[in-house]
Formats: sequence, structure tokens, C-alpha cells
Amino acid sequence: MRPLVILISGAGSNMQAIVRAAETGRWHERYRAAVARVISNRPDARGLAWAAEQGMPTAVVDHRAFPSREAFDAALAQTIDEVDPAGRALVILAGFMRILTPGFVQRYEGRIVNIHPSLLPAFPGLHTHQRAIEAGCRFGGATVHRVTAELDHGEYLEQAVVPILPGDTPDTLAARVLTQEHLIYPRAIERLLAAG
Ligand code: GAR
Repeated sequence: MRPLVILISGAGSNMQAIVRAAETGRWHERYRAAVARVISNRPDARGLAWAAEQGMPTAVVDHRAFPSREAFDAALAQTIDEVDPAGRALVILAGFMRILTPGFVQRYEGRIVNIHPSLLPAFPGLHTHQRAIEAGCRFGGATVHRVTAELDHGEYLEQAVVPILPGDTPDTLAARVLTQEHLIYPRAIERLLAAG
């Protein structure tokens, strides 16, 4: 079985899109893949409650309980590895708002992916929609990419483009982008699973 470990910090709508795609696309039978654990760094993340309601295995690794990034990442890695004895899990960052240490990323290199709400390489980091509007961009979007030690860099697996309309606010643009995220993230993951 190929474990899918999903890391969230908030609403978890991308996680939900992935779980729905896994069900409708029968990833369990086709790729022998299943969600092994949903992990949040925030105990109050809305997505965590949703995952628990679905009967999915959940865990919290609260970053505030650790003295350093290294200590947090070590606990996170342990929480992933517990459900992945063979070291094959696909680690899926779905609105996970922590910067990971190079050591952590290296441990999962090649099988850790992220979705970022901009057309990378434009606007890595935070406040992407506000920055795109302020820069006068005519288009925004989202990128699914492999995770490397450098923040918001790594091979692009999928991108989606949306127009930035007159009068857009960061919130209206974020909502338009999010609907596209829900399409491209499951698609990128399915492609990775199909590739083995
Ligand atoms: C998404 O827009 C995702 O691209 C972004 O957070 C949102 C999470 O929404 N991720 C980042 O900014 C990562 N740096 P969700 O919790 O509803 O999936």
C-alpha cells in the first residue's frame, strides 16, 4: 500500500479535493494508495475536524510545543514515518504553512509535493494574491511542485492560470485560484501515483 500523508494548517480544502479524487478515481484499487494520516501543526485547523469526521487517521504536531524548527521537524518526521514503515509515503503539503528544514526535505526528497498560490517562479512566499494585484499582473494562478530545500522551488508538476479582473481583491482572487487548485492538485498526485 502506498501511504498518502497529508499535511495541513487550515481549512484543508485542497485535502478535501484530494480525498474526493481518491474516492471517485478509486486510487485504492488502481494505485494501492490510501490516506494513512492527516497531520496538522495547528490543533484548531478546520481541516483536521473534517478529516476526523470522515474517519481518517489524524494527528497534531503543534509547532508551538517545540524549541526549534529542527525539533519540530524531527517530531513531524516521526509522525509521518510511524505510518510508513517502508519509506514510500507521498508527503502532500496542502496549505501547510511551516517552512521546513533542509534535513526534513532531504529525508522525503522526490516524494514530497506542495501547492503554492501563484504562478511560480513569480511570488514565492506569503501574500501572493495581494502582491500579484499590486504588481499589476493580468494573470494569477497556482503551482503544484516538488519540494526542495529552497522555499517554493522545485520541479513544476502542474500550473493553473486565472485572470486578474478589475476590482479584484486578494480574497476574490484567492477564491478564483482555489477552485483551480482543487483541480490541479489531485491531477498532479494521480500522475505521480500512476508513475509509481
Ligand atoms: C491554498 O490556497 C494553498 O495554495 C495555500 O494555502 C491555501 C490553503 O487552503 N498554500 C500556501 O500558501 C503555502 N505556502 P486549504 O487549506 O483550503 O487547502
